[in-house]
Amino acid sequence: MSSTHKYLFLKAIRNEPIERTPIWIMRQAGRYLPEYIRLKNKAGGFINLVKNPDLACEITLQPLKRFELDSAIVFSDILVVADMLDIKLSFVENKGPVFDKVIRTEKDLSKIKKTDDIEKLDYVFNTIKLLKKELADKKPLIGFIGSPWTVATYIIEGNSSKTFANVLKMLECEEMLLHKILDMLTDISIDYLNKQIESGIDVAMIFDTWGSLLNDEQYEKFSLRYINKIKNGISNQDIPLIYYVRETGNKIKAIKNLEIDVLGIDSTTDIGVIKKQIGNKFALQGNLDVNILKKDQSDIIKAIKHTLNSYGSKSGHIFNLGTGITPDINPDKVKMLIDNLANISSKFNVK
Ligand code: CP3
Repeated sequence: MSSTHKYLFLKAIRNEPIERTPIWIMRQAGRYLPEYIRLKNKAGGFINLVKNPDLACEITLQPLKRFELDSAIVFSDILVVADMLDIKLSFVENKGPVFDKVIRTEKDLSKIKKTDDIEKLDYVFNTIKLLKKELADKKPLIGFIGSPWTVATYIIEGNSSKTFANVLKMLECEEMLLHKILDMLTDISIDYLNKQIESGIDVAMIFDTWGSLLNDEQYEKFSLRYINKIKNGISNQDIPLIYYVRETGNKIKAIKNLEIDVLGIDSTTDIGVIKKQIGNKFALQGNLDVNILKKDQSDIIKAIKHTLNSYGSKSGHIFNLGTGITPDINPDKVKMLIDNLANISSKFNVK
Protein backbone atom coordinates (compact mmCIF):
# COMPACT_ATOMS: atom_id res chain seq x y z
CA MET A 1 0.00 0.00 0.00
CA SER A 2 1.57 3.30 -1.02
CA SER A 3 -0.99 5.79 0.27
CA THR A 4 0.13 8.34 2.81
CA HIS A 5 -1.60 8.08 6.16
CA LYS A 6 -2.85 10.95 8.19
CA TYR A 7 -1.76 9.44 11.49
CA LEU A 8 1.87 9.42 12.61
CA PHE A 9 1.19 6.02 14.18
CA LEU A 10 0.10 4.51 10.85
CA LYS A 11 2.96 6.15 8.96
CA ALA A 12 5.39 4.48 11.36
CA ILE A 13 3.69 1.12 10.83
CA ARG A 14 4.02 1.54 7.04
CA ASN A 15 7.66 2.63 7.38
CA GLU A 16 6.88 6.01 5.78
CA PRO A 17 9.04 9.03 6.69
CA ILE A 18 8.05 10.53 10.05
CA GLU A 19 9.13 13.53 12.12
CA ARG A 20 9.34 11.69 15.48
CA THR A 21 8.71 8.27 17.02
CA PRO A 22 5.05 7.70 17.97
CA ILE A 23 4.16 6.34 21.40
CA TRP A 24 1.27 4.74 23.25
CA ILE A 25 1.39 2.73 26.45
CA MET A 26 -0.17 -0.64 27.19
CA ARG A 27 -2.83 -0.16 29.90
CA GLN A 28 -2.49 3.59 29.44
CA ALA A 29 -5.92 4.02 31.02
CA GLY A 30 -5.62 2.36 34.39
CA ARG A 31 -4.86 2.32 38.07
CA TYR A 32 -1.80 4.58 37.99
CA LEU A 33 -4.15 7.48 37.14
CA PRO A 34 -6.08 8.97 40.11
CA GLU A 35 -8.93 10.04 37.78
CA TYR A 36 -9.30 6.37 36.74
CA ILE A 37 -9.49 5.17 40.36
CA ARG A 38 -12.11 7.83 41.13
CA LEU A 39 -14.36 6.85 38.24
CA LYS A 40 -13.88 3.12 38.92
CA ASN A 41 -14.90 3.53 42.57
CA LYS A 42 -17.89 5.60 41.57
CA ALA A 43 -18.99 2.98 39.02
CA GLY A 44 -18.50 0.12 41.49
CA GLY A 45 -15.64 -1.68 39.77
CA PHE A 46 -13.75 -2.35 36.54
CA ILE A 47 -16.40 -4.46 34.80
CA ASN A 48 -19.02 -1.74 35.32
CA LEU A 49 -16.75 0.68 33.48
CA VAL A 50 -16.17 -1.75 30.62
CA LYS A 51 -19.87 -2.49 30.16
CA ASN A 52 -20.95 1.15 30.13
CA PRO A 53 -20.00 2.78 26.79
CA ASP A 54 -20.15 6.36 28.13
CA LEU A 55 -17.82 5.51 31.00
CA ALA A 56 -15.55 3.27 28.90
CA CYS A 57 -15.24 6.13 26.40
CA GLU A 58 -14.39 8.62 29.14
CA ILE A 59 -11.79 6.27 30.64
CA THR A 60 -10.21 5.64 27.23
CA LEU A 61 -9.73 9.37 26.76
CA GLN A 62 -8.34 10.11 30.25
CA PRO A 63 -4.67 9.43 29.37
CA LEU A 64 -5.02 11.36 26.08
CA LYS A 65 -6.16 14.41 28.02
CA ARG A 66 -3.05 14.27 30.20
CA PHE A 67 -0.36 13.21 27.73
CA GLU A 68 0.66 13.66 24.07
CA LEU A 69 -0.09 10.05 23.16
CA ASP A 70 -0.32 8.98 19.52
CA SER A 71 -3.17 6.51 19.84
CA ALA A 72 -6.16 5.61 21.94
CA ILE A 73 -6.94 2.00 22.83
CA VAL A 74 -10.48 0.90 23.54
CA PHE A 75 -11.01 0.49 27.28
CA SER A 76 -12.09 -3.13 27.65
CA ASP A 77 -10.50 -6.49 28.40
CA ILE A 78 -9.53 -9.56 26.37
CA LEU A 79 -11.74 -11.72 28.62
CA VAL A 80 -15.10 -10.10 27.79
CA VAL A 81 -15.52 -12.76 25.06
CA ALA A 82 -16.64 -15.03 27.92
CA ASP A 83 -20.06 -13.35 27.41
CA MET A 84 -20.31 -15.33 24.15
CA LEU A 85 -20.01 -18.58 26.15
CA ASP A 86 -22.44 -17.57 28.86
CA ILE A 87 -19.54 -17.61 31.34
CA LYS A 88 -19.73 -14.84 33.90
CA LEU A 89 -16.57 -12.76 34.31
CA SER A 90 -15.87 -10.76 37.45
CA PHE A 91 -12.79 -8.92 38.64
CA VAL A 92 -11.85 -9.35 42.26
CA GLU A 93 -9.71 -6.57 43.76
CA ASN A 94 -6.05 -7.68 44.01
CA LYS A 95 -6.90 -11.06 42.50
CA GLY A 96 -7.78 -10.23 38.91
CA PRO A 97 -10.28 -12.01 36.66
CA VAL A 98 -12.50 -14.83 37.96
CA PHE A 99 -14.96 -16.94 35.91
CA ASP A 100 -18.06 -18.68 37.27
CA LYS A 101 -17.40 -21.74 35.05
CA VAL A 102 -14.28 -23.47 33.76
CA ILE A 103 -13.71 -25.83 30.82
CA ARG A 104 -11.42 -28.67 31.85
CA THR A 105 -13.24 -31.72 30.46
CA GLU A 106 -15.37 -32.73 27.44
CA LYS A 107 -18.34 -32.65 29.80
CA ASP A 108 -17.57 -29.06 30.85
CA LEU A 109 -17.37 -28.13 27.17
CA SER A 110 -20.67 -29.85 26.32
CA LYS A 111 -22.42 -27.76 28.98
CA ILE A 112 -21.21 -24.45 27.54
CA LYS A 113 -23.98 -22.44 25.90
CA LYS A 114 -22.16 -20.70 23.04
CA THR A 115 -24.05 -18.04 21.15
CA ASP A 116 -23.29 -16.77 17.62
CA ASP A 117 -24.91 -13.46 18.45
CA ILE A 118 -21.97 -11.05 18.49
CA GLU A 119 -24.39 -8.30 19.60
CA LYS A 120 -23.81 -9.69 23.11
CA LEU A 121 -20.68 -7.58 23.02
CA ASP A 122 -22.58 -4.49 21.88
CA TYR A 123 -21.19 -2.45 24.76
CA VAL A 124 -17.73 -2.70 23.14
CA PHE A 125 -18.99 -1.71 19.69
CA ASN A 126 -20.94 1.21 21.14
CA THR A 127 -17.82 2.36 23.01
CA ILE A 128 -15.89 2.28 19.72
CA LYS A 129 -18.56 4.32 17.94
CA LEU A 130 -18.58 6.94 20.72
CA LEU A 131 -14.78 7.09 20.67
CA LYS A 132 -14.62 7.59 16.92
CA LYS A 133 -16.87 10.62 17.33
CA GLU A 134 -14.81 12.01 20.22
CA LEU A 135 -11.45 11.41 18.53
CA ALA A 136 -12.73 13.10 15.36
CA ASP A 137 -9.95 11.60 13.22
CA LYS A 138 -7.28 13.37 15.27
CA LYS A 139 -5.89 10.17 16.78
CA PRO A 140 -6.27 6.55 15.68
CA LEU A 141 -8.11 3.99 17.79
CA ILE A 142 -6.73 0.52 18.57
CA GLY A 143 -9.20 -2.32 19.05
CA PHE A 144 -8.06 -5.70 20.33
CA ILE A 145 -8.72 -9.31 21.15
CA GLY A 146 -6.85 -11.91 23.17
CA SER A 147 -5.36 -14.79 21.22
CA PRO A 148 -7.48 -17.95 21.46
CA TRP A 149 -4.60 -19.62 23.34
CA THR A 150 -4.26 -16.82 25.92
CA VAL A 151 -8.02 -16.55 26.48
CA ALA A 152 -8.19 -20.37 26.77
CA THR A 153 -5.65 -20.37 29.61
CA TYR A 154 -8.05 -18.25 31.68
CA ILE A 155 -11.12 -20.28 30.72
CA ILE A 156 -9.35 -23.51 31.68
CA GLU A 157 -7.97 -22.18 34.99
CA GLY A 158 -10.97 -20.00 35.88
CA ASN A 159 -8.75 -17.22 37.17
CA SER A 160 -5.31 -15.62 36.95
CA SER A 161 -3.20 -18.70 37.68
CA LYS A 162 0.46 -18.52 38.58
CA THR A 163 1.13 -22.20 37.87
CA PHE A 164 -1.24 -23.01 34.96
CA ALA A 165 -1.53 -26.56 36.34
CA ASN A 166 -4.81 -27.35 34.54
CA VAL A 167 -3.61 -25.82 31.28
CA LEU A 168 -0.37 -27.81 31.33
CA LYS A 169 -2.29 -30.98 32.10
CA MET A 170 -4.61 -30.42 29.15
CA LEU A 171 -1.60 -29.78 26.89
CA GLU A 172 -0.17 -33.14 27.92
CA CYS A 173 -3.29 -35.31 28.02
CA GLU A 174 -6.20 -33.70 26.14
CA GLU A 175 -4.95 -32.23 22.86
CA MET A 176 -8.25 -32.82 21.06
CA LEU A 177 -10.26 -31.06 23.75
CA LEU A 178 -7.82 -28.15 23.69
CA HIS A 179 -8.21 -27.84 19.90
CA LYS A 180 -12.00 -27.84 20.26
CA ILE A 181 -11.79 -24.98 22.78
CA LEU A 182 -9.35 -23.07 20.56
CA ASP A 183 -11.55 -23.57 17.47
CA MET A 184 -14.56 -22.25 19.36
CA LEU A 185 -12.63 -19.19 20.59
CA THR A 186 -11.19 -18.58 17.11
CA ASP A 187 -14.67 -18.45 15.52
CA ILE A 188 -15.79 -15.95 18.14
CA SER A 189 -12.58 -13.90 17.81
CA ILE A 190 -13.01 -13.50 14.04
CA ASP A 191 -16.60 -12.24 14.40
CA TYR A 192 -15.63 -10.05 17.32
CA LEU A 193 -12.68 -8.41 15.57
CA ASN A 194 -14.62 -7.90 12.36
CA LYS A 195 -17.41 -6.20 14.26
CA GLN A 196 -14.85 -3.92 15.98
CA ILE A 197 -13.49 -3.04 12.53
CA GLU A 198 -17.00 -2.35 11.25
CA SER A 199 -17.56 -0.11 14.29
CA GLY A 200 -14.53 2.00 13.39
CA ILE A 201 -11.19 0.85 14.87
CA ASP A 202 -8.12 1.93 12.88
CA VAL A 203 -5.68 -0.71 14.12
CA ALA A 204 -6.23 -4.23 15.50
CA MET A 205 -4.09 -5.87 18.15
CA ILE A 206 -3.90 -9.49 19.30
CA PHE A 207 -2.59 -10.08 22.83
CA ASP A 208 -0.94 -13.51 23.02
CA THR A 209 0.58 -12.88 26.43
CA TRP A 210 0.80 -16.55 27.47
CA GLY A 211 2.21 -17.86 24.19
CA SER A 212 5.34 -17.70 26.34
CA LEU A 213 4.23 -20.90 28.16
CA LEU A 214 4.58 -23.00 25.01
CA ASN A 215 7.63 -24.72 23.51
CA ASP A 216 8.31 -24.20 19.80
CA GLU A 217 6.20 -27.10 18.58
CA GLN A 218 3.28 -26.32 20.88
CA TYR A 219 3.45 -22.64 20.00
CA GLU A 220 2.93 -23.43 16.30
CA LYS A 221 0.16 -25.93 17.03
CA PHE A 222 -1.84 -24.24 19.77
CA SER A 223 -1.23 -20.58 19.20
CA LEU A 224 0.11 -19.50 15.79
CA ARG A 225 -2.18 -21.80 13.82
CA TYR A 226 -5.17 -19.95 15.29
CA ILE A 227 -3.56 -16.52 14.86
CA ASN A 228 -3.26 -17.33 11.15
CA LYS A 229 -6.91 -18.36 11.00
CA ILE A 230 -7.91 -15.05 12.55
CA LYS A 231 -5.68 -13.09 10.18
CA ASN A 232 -7.28 -14.86 7.21
CA GLY A 233 -10.74 -14.19 8.60
CA ILE A 234 -10.32 -10.43 8.94
CA SER A 235 -12.78 -8.72 6.61
CA ASN A 236 -10.69 -5.62 5.95
CA GLN A 237 -7.07 -6.52 5.28
CA ASP A 238 -6.06 -2.82 5.19
CA ILE A 239 -6.44 -2.58 8.97
CA PRO A 240 -2.92 -3.00 10.39
CA LEU A 241 -2.47 -5.92 12.77
CA ILE A 242 -0.24 -5.81 15.85
CA TYR A 243 0.72 -9.12 17.48
CA TYR A 244 2.12 -9.18 21.03
CA VAL A 245 3.64 -12.13 22.86
CA ARG A 246 5.75 -12.28 26.02
CA GLU A 247 9.33 -13.54 25.76
CA THR A 248 9.22 -12.53 22.12
CA GLY A 249 12.95 -13.08 21.68
CA ASN A 250 12.61 -16.87 22.01
CA LYS A 251 9.98 -17.10 19.31
CA ILE A 252 11.26 -15.06 16.39
CA LYS A 253 11.81 -17.95 14.00
CA ALA A 254 8.14 -18.96 14.18
CA ILE A 255 6.78 -15.41 14.36
CA LYS A 256 8.64 -14.45 11.18
CA ASN A 257 6.14 -16.53 9.18
CA LEU A 258 3.12 -14.61 10.46
CA GLU A 259 1.37 -12.15 8.19
CA ILE A 260 1.23 -9.26 10.64
CA ASP A 261 2.17 -5.60 10.37
CA VAL A 262 3.64 -4.93 13.80
CA LEU A 263 5.32 -7.16 16.36
CA GLY A 264 4.85 -6.03 19.96
CA ILE A 265 7.82 -7.08 22.05
CA ASP A 266 8.43 -7.37 25.78
CA SER A 267 11.49 -6.07 27.62
CA THR A 268 13.39 -9.34 27.95
CA THR A 269 15.27 -8.93 24.64
CA ASP A 270 16.99 -5.83 23.28
CA ILE A 271 14.93 -4.30 20.46
CA GLY A 272 18.06 -4.18 18.25
CA VAL A 273 18.50 -7.95 18.52
CA ILE A 274 14.94 -8.50 17.33
CA LYS A 275 15.29 -5.89 14.57
CA LYS A 276 18.32 -7.77 13.22
CA GLN A 277 16.28 -10.96 12.98
CA ILE A 278 13.10 -9.39 11.60
CA GLY A 279 14.66 -6.83 9.25
CA ASN A 280 11.92 -4.70 7.77
CA LYS A 281 9.34 -7.49 7.60
CA PHE A 282 7.30 -5.95 10.45
CA ALA A 283 7.34 -2.68 12.33
CA LEU A 284 8.29 -3.17 15.98
CA GLN A 285 6.42 -1.92 19.02
CA GLY A 286 8.02 -1.64 22.45
CA ASN A 287 9.92 -2.26 24.59
CA LEU A 288 10.96 -0.07 27.53
CA ASP A 289 11.06 -1.89 30.87
CA VAL A 290 8.27 -0.39 32.99
CA ASN A 291 10.64 -0.28 35.99
CA ILE A 292 12.69 2.44 34.26
CA LEU A 293 9.75 4.71 35.07
CA LYS A 294 10.60 4.34 38.77
CA LYS A 295 13.99 5.97 38.15
CA ASP A 296 14.86 9.62 37.63
CA GLN A 297 14.89 11.74 34.49
CA SER A 298 18.51 11.07 33.51
CA ASP A 299 17.94 7.29 33.59
CA ILE A 300 14.73 7.64 31.60
CA ILE A 301 16.52 9.71 28.96
CA LYS A 302 19.36 7.20 28.83
CA ALA A 303 16.90 4.35 28.31
CA ILE A 304 15.02 6.22 25.56
CA LYS A 305 18.28 6.90 23.73
CA HIS A 306 19.36 3.30 24.14
CA THR A 307 16.08 2.02 22.67
CA LEU A 308 16.15 4.43 19.72
CA ASN A 309 19.81 3.73 18.94
CA SER A 310 19.28 0.04 19.25
CA TYR A 311 16.34 0.08 16.83
CA GLY A 312 18.46 2.28 14.61
CA SER A 313 15.99 3.98 12.26
CA LYS A 314 13.29 6.53 12.74
CA SER A 315 10.30 4.93 11.09
CA GLY A 316 9.00 1.42 11.63
CA HIS A 317 9.13 1.80 15.41
CA ILE A 318 6.25 2.52 17.78
CA PHE A 319 7.48 3.27 21.27
CA ASN A 320 5.77 1.42 24.14
CA LEU A 321 6.56 -0.47 27.31
CA GLY A 322 7.27 -4.20 27.29
CA THR A 323 4.17 -4.95 29.39
CA GLY A 324 1.20 -3.02 30.71
CA ILE A 325 1.96 -0.06 32.97
CA THR A 326 1.67 -0.98 36.66
CA PRO A 327 -0.30 0.90 39.36
CA ASP A 328 2.92 1.90 41.18
CA ILE A 329 4.05 4.31 38.42
CA ASN A 330 3.80 8.04 39.00
CA PRO A 331 1.93 9.67 36.06
CA ASP A 332 4.55 12.47 36.05
CA LYS A 333 7.09 9.87 34.91
CA VAL A 334 4.86 8.95 31.98
CA LYS A 335 4.77 12.59 30.94
CA MET A 336 8.55 12.70 31.34
CA LEU A 337 8.89 9.70 29.04
CA ILE A 338 6.54 11.03 26.38
CA ASP A 339 7.97 14.56 26.31
CA ASN A 340 11.57 13.38 26.24
CA LEU A 341 10.84 10.83 23.53
CA ALA A 342 9.30 13.54 21.33
CA ASN A 343 12.33 15.74 21.84
CA ILE A 344 15.00 13.08 21.37
CA SER A 345 13.38 11.20 18.51
CA SER A 346 12.71 14.36 16.49
CA LYS A 347 16.47 15.03 16.49
CA PHE A 348 17.34 11.43 15.79
CA ASN A 349 19.27 11.49 12.55
CA VAL A 350 18.76 8.11 10.97
CA LYS A 351 16.18 7.82 8.10
O1 CP3 B 1 -4.11 -1.39 27.21
C1 CP3 B 1 -5.16 -0.79 27.49
O2 CP3 B 1 -5.16 0.31 28.07
C2 CP3 B 1 -6.48 -1.37 27.03
C3 CP3 B 1 -7.26 -2.12 27.96
C4 CP3 B 1 -6.78 -3.50 28.36
C5 CP3 B 1 -7.00 -4.03 29.66
N1 CP3 B 1 -6.60 -5.33 29.65
C6 CP3 B 1 -7.61 -3.30 30.78
C7 CP3 B 1 -7.46 -3.84 32.14
C8 CP3 B 1 -6.17 -4.49 27.60
C9 CP3 B 1 -5.67 -4.43 26.18
C10 CP3 B 1 -6.06 -5.64 28.43
C11 CP3 B 1 -5.50 -6.91 27.95
C12 CP3 B 1 -5.41 -8.05 28.86
N2 CP3 B 1 -6.28 -8.38 29.84
C13 CP3 B 1 -4.42 -9.05 28.79
C14 CP3 B 1 -3.30 -9.13 27.76
C15 CP3 B 1 -2.21 -8.16 28.01
C16 CP3 B 1 -1.47 -8.38 29.29
O3 CP3 B 1 -1.64 -7.55 30.19
O4 CP3 B 1 -0.74 -9.37 29.39
C17 CP3 B 1 -4.69 -9.98 29.79
C18 CP3 B 1 -3.88 -11.21 30.10
C19 CP3 B 1 -5.88 -9.56 30.45
C20 CP3 B 1 -6.61 -10.23 31.57
C21 CP3 B 1 -6.58 -9.40 32.79
N3 CP3 B 1 -7.27 -8.22 32.95
C22 CP3 B 1 -5.89 -9.66 33.98
C23 CP3 B 1 -5.00 -10.86 34.22
C24 CP3 B 1 -6.16 -8.62 34.86
C25 CP3 B 1 -5.72 -8.51 36.29
C26 CP3 B 1 -4.31 -8.11 36.42
C27 CP3 B 1 -4.18 -6.62 36.42
O5 CP3 B 1 -3.28 -6.09 35.73
O6 CP3 B 1 -4.96 -6.00 37.12
C28 CP3 B 1 -7.01 -7.69 34.18
C29 CP3 B 1 -7.54 -6.45 34.73
C30 CP3 B 1 -7.46 -5.22 33.89
N4 CP3 B 1 -7.56 -5.14 32.53
C31 CP3 B 1 -7.28 -3.89 34.42
C32 CP3 B 1 -7.28 -3.04 33.31
C33 CP3 B 1 -7.20 -1.53 33.33
C34 CP3 B 1 -7.19 -3.51 35.88
C35 CP3 B 1 -8.57 -3.39 36.39
C36 CP3 B 1 -8.66 -2.70 37.71
O7 CP3 B 1 -8.82 -1.48 37.72
O8 CP3 B 1 -8.64 -3.39 38.74
